[in-house]
Amino acid sequence: MTALDAVSIITGKRDGEQLSDAQIDWVIDAFTRGSVGDEQMAALAMAILWRGMTRRETARWTAAMIASGRRMDFTDLARPTVDKHSTGGVGDKITLPLAPLVAACGAAVPQLSGRGLGHTGGTLDKLESIPGWRADLATARMREILSDPAIGAVVCAAGADLAPADKRLYALRDVTGTVESIPLIASSIMSKKIAEGTAALVLDVKVGSGAFMKSEASARELATAMVELGADSGVRTVALLTAMDTPLGRTAGNALEVAESVEVLAGGGPADVVELTLTLAREMVTAAGLDADPAVALADGRAMDHWRAMVRAQGGDPAAPLPRARHTETVRAERDGVLTRLDAMAVGIAVRRLGAGRMRQGEPVQFGAGVEIHAVQGDFVSAGQELLTMHTDTPEAFASASAALADGIDVDAAANQTERTLVLGRVQA
Ligand code: URA
Repeated sequence: MTALDAVSIITGKRDGEQLSDAQIDWVIDAFTRGSVGDEQMAALAMAILWRGMTRRETARWTAAMIASGRRMDFTDLARPTVDKHSTGGVGDKITLPLAPLVAACGAAVPQLSGRGLGHTGGTLDKLESIPGWRADLATARMREILSDPAIGAVVCAAGADLAPADKRLYALRDVTGTVESIPLIASSIMSKKIAEGTAALVLDVKVGSGAFMKSEASARELATAMVELGADSGVRTVALLTAMDTPLGRTAGNALEVAESVEVLAGGGPADVVELTLTLAREMVTAAGLDADPAVALADGRAMDHWRAMVRAQGGDPAAPLPRARHTETVRAERDGVLTRLDAMAVGIAVRRLGAGRMRQGEPVQFGAGVEIHAVQGDFVSAGQELLTMHTDTPEAFASASAALADGIDVDAAANQTERTLVLGRVQA
């Protein structure tokens, strides 16, 4: 075998060659140990972004990233494990009602989640708005919670030893313009989900202005790559393509989204959040091989019982009042007509500027900040009617948040009211 070196791996991929298994194993291992530098890995990521990777290369790349750390194992649990991953959107609080609902149906849900990324909100930031709730759990405690039939779901931060190659590579891609590569996104997401030890996985691949994938074709390509990686690793994986052209539900922002999720668990909440929660729950229950109806577990209060137990198990007080921002300002319709566009990206940027997301890595977020939505895309609105309420502790942010929203709102006097299609497709192995 010829000696392996970073420069020939980079130039080979740059010139359109396929990487061998040995090259992939070597370069991921050397990058994790620090003997391949950030500049070389960034060059390779750019070459991959342009030249792509085959299914074999992507599978090997994913396996090498898993092997860079520890792989968790929950096969000894009495209940089947199943998890969900969303590629990220605006107002996407679905994990909050979904995890306890699926646990109430008899599954164990071991969810390792992240914080906000760019304009998209993070599940851990949302849950941390609950007084006392903690994201860091030891694996032994995670296992105890998953084994407890009264809880069965855990949402926590991934430890430093879970796919450490991805942690370094993701941070590098973020600052080198190399995020938008389908094989790199697919291997990044799936390496963490496979290492997490779930037996089955349901992916919610977002499509539209507020998603990483703007077109249905690119979302389908990403979904297919992830479903194939799941199948190759023995994780039963199915993906739904769902709309992210406009925010999900009526809130975007940490505590605002927790409150809306609790409304869903109490039997109310916006129709789109309820529909997506139940659709994903049915997929998860089926993938876990269970025979239970999530609609019943939601209606009879079992999902709410699991939510309360899950929050308590991580130090939170489910009855405590949630933080509220000190200042609010409304955005009103300028004319009569149909709200033809309430753009997810514009709302996501406004929410981040109001303080609910981060401008720099590691910054604290404002738990009460965000946007409440009073009229949704497709609704008829009258001039002067309230469309949105902005919430923040830093009122100087209202001007820049309003500017972002102004670019994302269209009211058309001549348009007809429309219905939205939430689930756009399904991809299975
Ligand atoms: N989320 C991830 O975990 N990785 C990516 O590359 C993109 C989104």
